Amino acid sequence: MQSLEDQLKQLSPEDQVKLTSGTNFWQSVAIPEYQIPSFRMSDGPNGLRYQAGEGDALGINDSVISTCFPTASAVACTWDPDLVVEMGRAIGLEARSLNVDMVLGPGINIKRNPLCGRNFEYFSEDPYLAGMIGAGWIRGLQSEGAAACLKHFAGNNQENDRLLSDSLIDPTALHEVYLEAFRIAVQTAQPEGVMCSYNKVNGTYSSDNAYLLTDMLRRQWGFKGTVVTDWGALNNKVASLNAGGDLEMPSSHNMFDQQALTALKDGQLKPAALYRAAENVLRVAEKSRPKFNGDRQTLLEQNGKLAQRIEENAAVLLKNDDHILPIQLAQKVLVVGQMATETRYQGAGSSHINPPAQTSILQGLSHAGIVYDYQQGYAFSNKEADQLAGAAVKAAKNAQTVVVVAGLPESAESEGFDRPTMALPANQNALIDQLAAVNSNLIVLLVAGAPVELPWQSRVKGLINLYLGGQFVGDAAANLLVGKVNPSGKLAESYPISYQDVPSADSYDKNPRSVAYAESVYVGYRYYEKANQPVAFPFGFGLSYTTFKLSGLALDQHQIQAGQSIEAKVTLENTGDRDGAEVVEVYIGNSPNRALKPLKELKGFQKVFLRAGETKTVTVELTARAFSEWDDQQQEWQLPAVDKAVVVMIGSSRESLSAPVNVVGQALATTSVPTWYITPVGKPSLSDFTAMSGLRVQPPITSRPGQYTRLSTPRELSAHSAIIRKIATVLKNNQSKGITDPDSPEAKFMDAIIMDTPLIRLAQQSDGKLSLGLVDRLVALANRHYWQVIWGR
Ligand code: BGC
Repeated sequence: MQSLEDQLKQLSPEDQVKLTSGTNFWQSVAIPEYQIPSFRMSDGPNGLRYQAGEGDALGINDSVISTCFPTASAVACTWDPDLVVEMGRAIGLEARSLNVDMVLGPGINIKRNPLCGRNFEYFSEDPYLAGMIGAGWIRGLQSEGAAACLKHFAGNNQENDRLLSDSLIDPTALHEVYLEAFRIAVQTAQPEGVMCSYNKVNGTYSSDNAYLLTDMLRRQWGFKGTVVTDWGALNNKVASLNAGGDLEMPSSHNMFDQQALTALKDGQLKPAALYRAAENVLRVAEKSRPKFNGDRQTLLEQNGKLAQRIEENAAVLLKNDDHILPIQLAQKVLVVGQMATETRYQGAGSSHINPPAQTSILQGLSHAGIVYDYQQGYAFSNKEADQLAGAAVKAAKNAQTVVVVAGLPESAESEGFDRPTMALPANQNALIDQLAAVNSNLIVLLVAGAPVELPWQSRVKGLINLYLGGQFVGDAAANLLVGKVNPSGKLAESYPISYQDVPSADSYDKNPRSVAYAESVYVGYRYYEKANQPVAFPFGFGLSYTTFKLSGLALDQHQIQAGQSIEAKVTLENTGDRDGAEVVEVYIGNSPNRALKPLKELKGFQKVFLRAGETKTVTVELTARAFSEWDDQQQEWQLPAVDKAVVVMIGSSRESLSAPVNVVGQALATTSVPTWYITPVGKPSLSDFTAMSGLRVQPPITSRPGQYTRLSTPRELSAHSAIIRKIATVLKNNQSKGITDPDSPEAKFMDAIIMDTPLIRLAQQSDGKLSLGLVDRLVALANRHYWQVIWGR
C-alpha cells in the first residue's frame, strides 16, 4: 500500500482540485485510477440520518431506521461526559453498520438567544460545558472507528438568514465564549473533521476565514483533520483553500474547479494549500475503519435502551413543592394534553431521525403500570380550544393529581428559521391557569427543545423539563414520575422569566444580516448574575428526590502560575433517604468591577452518584488555563495578575462555597470601555458596542432592480419580478413533493431554504440542475437587463 504522500505526488493538479469537492450529496470523490476510495458522510447529532435514496439536507427524504437519542439540549443536562461517550459509541456503531465513515456532529454552537430555531441541536450557553459534552460525544464515536465532524464553526447562533448573516463579535467574546467550546472539543477529543458554518464572522465567510480555519483551528489548537463546508456554505473556492478549507460539500458538479486551476496557474491559489486540502480529504477516505459484524437489530434494541437511560439522566426536576413528586404507583392521575399522546421527541431539519420505535408519554405511563384518566385539554391546531379545556377542567376538579403535558408544537422549532416568540401556545397557558384554579396538585411535564416562558410557574407544584427526549421519552418520563429513577439533570442554560430579560432580546433577528453581539461575553448566566436580573431557573439548577449537602471546600494551594494546577476538594453528602446523583459545579470567580468579565465562569464539574446517607470527597483539578484570559494583543491566552476565586456549588441548592486564589501572571493592560461592559444593567446599546469593539453594524439593504447579484435570494428577486416569483414557486413545489402539511416544520424549512438561500448557493447544491449561466440570467432578469438574459453575461 502506497503512503499518502506517494499517492499525492502522482496526482495532477486537476485531480487534487477534484478531490476537494464532493461527488454527490453525501460522498467525497473516488479516483479509481489511483485506488482512491470515496468516503461517506451522514447526519447527525442525535442519531444517524443515513439516506440510502435521494439525499437532502432537510430531513424530508426518508432515512434508514436508526436510534433517536434525546437531542443535544437534553443531552447536555446530564452533565455526564462519560454517558455521552456511550451515546457517541452507539451512534458510531450504527454508522459503521451502514458503512458511514464520517458523522456530521456534534453541534456545539453557543445558545446566545433562546429563540434560535436550532437550539435543540446545541448543548449549552456555556462553552466549557458544551466543549466537554461535545468532546465526550466525539471520543465515543471515534472509538468505534467513525469520524466526527464538529459543527458549525463558528459564530452560527441564529437560523434566520444564516447564509448571509454576519456575526459581529468582539475579540474577548469570540475567544472566551464562542470559540472556546470548539477549542475544548478539538483539543480534548481530536475530531477528524470540523464543519465550517454558513455565516460570516466579522465580515468574512467562515469558509474563507483564515483567522478561524488556520490561525486558530490549525495553528493555535493543533487541529490535524479535515475542514468540510456546511452543505452549500462554500463562498469562494480559492479563498477557502487558501484559508484552510479542505472539502466542499455537497457536490457542486465541479462548478469551481476551473477557477481553482486558473488561480493555481496565476499564483493566487497556493500549491501548498491545495496539497494540504487534497491530503486531508485523502486521509479520511483512506483510513481503515472497522466493519460492524454484529446484528443490527440487536444493536438498535440496545441503543434504544441507552437513549432512554440518557433521557432519564437528562430530565430536569425544576419544581417539587410539598414533595408532590414522585407520585405513588397506586395513585390514579389525570393526564391532560395532546402532547401526552403525540409526544415530540426530536426537532426538525437535518438532524431528523427515523426511529425503530417510539413511546408517547401515555404509552410510557401504561408500560410503568400507572393508572390514569386522560383529557386532551388543548389541540396543537388551536381548534375546539374551549370545549377541550372545559372537559379537562371538569375532570380536574375531582382528580387527586393532575399531570399536564405541555410544550412547543413541531412547527415551532426547526433548523432553518428562528422562533418568533418565547411563549408557549396561548391555549396551553390558558388551560394550565384554568386547571390550577380548580386543582392545586398540578404537575407539568414540559416538552420543548429550548426555554419557554412559564407564566404559571408559581401556580404549579411540580415541573419536570423533559426537553426533546428521544424515542423513549415516554418511558423515561414515567420512570421519573414514579421515582423509579431519581432525577439528576441540571439545566445547561438559564431559563429567563420573560424574553425581554434576555440581553440580546432587543436586537436579535431585527437586522439578521449584520448582527451585533452587543452583549459581548455577557451571555446566559454570565449576564443574569452580573446584571442582577432574576431568572425563572438558573444555569446548573436541577432538583432531586433526595437532598445533598456540600461542605469543606479545600484547595491544595491558593496561588497559581503558568504550568501549575490547583486541586479543589469538597465533601458531598446525600442527606436524604433515596439514592441519587448530584453535580458538583466548579466556577472561577472574578471581582465585580472588571470589564468584560462575568462574576463567575464554569471551569470544572463532576457528576457524582451517592447512596442515601453516603458521603464522598470530590476532587476537581483546575489547570492554569482555567484562570487564563484572552489577550488580543498577544493573540493568546494569558494568566492575568489578579485575584480570583474558586466557587463551588451543586445543582439542587444554589448555596456556594468559595476560596480565594492569587493568580501570578501579566499585569492587566488598562483599557477603557463603556460602563455597560463593567456593570451590564439593562440592554447594551449599539453605540457602546461600537465604542468597545470597533465593529459597526451595516444597515439593512433592500435591493431593487439593477442591484441584484448572484448572492441575492429568490425572496429578494421575487419582490420585483412576477416571473421570478413563478420560477421560485415551481422550484419550491418541486422540492416539496414529499410534504403534505403546509404548516409542518418541513414546509416552513423548505420555504426558508429555497426563498432565503442566495441563488449561487442554490446552484451549488442543485446537483447540476441550476447552472451558473442560468443564475446569471435570472439575476439579469430581476435587474431588468434583458439583453443579458438573452445573451448571458
Ligand atoms: C446543516 C448541517 C448538516 C448538513 C447536511 C446543513 O443544512 O446546517 O448541520 O450537517 O445540512 O445535512
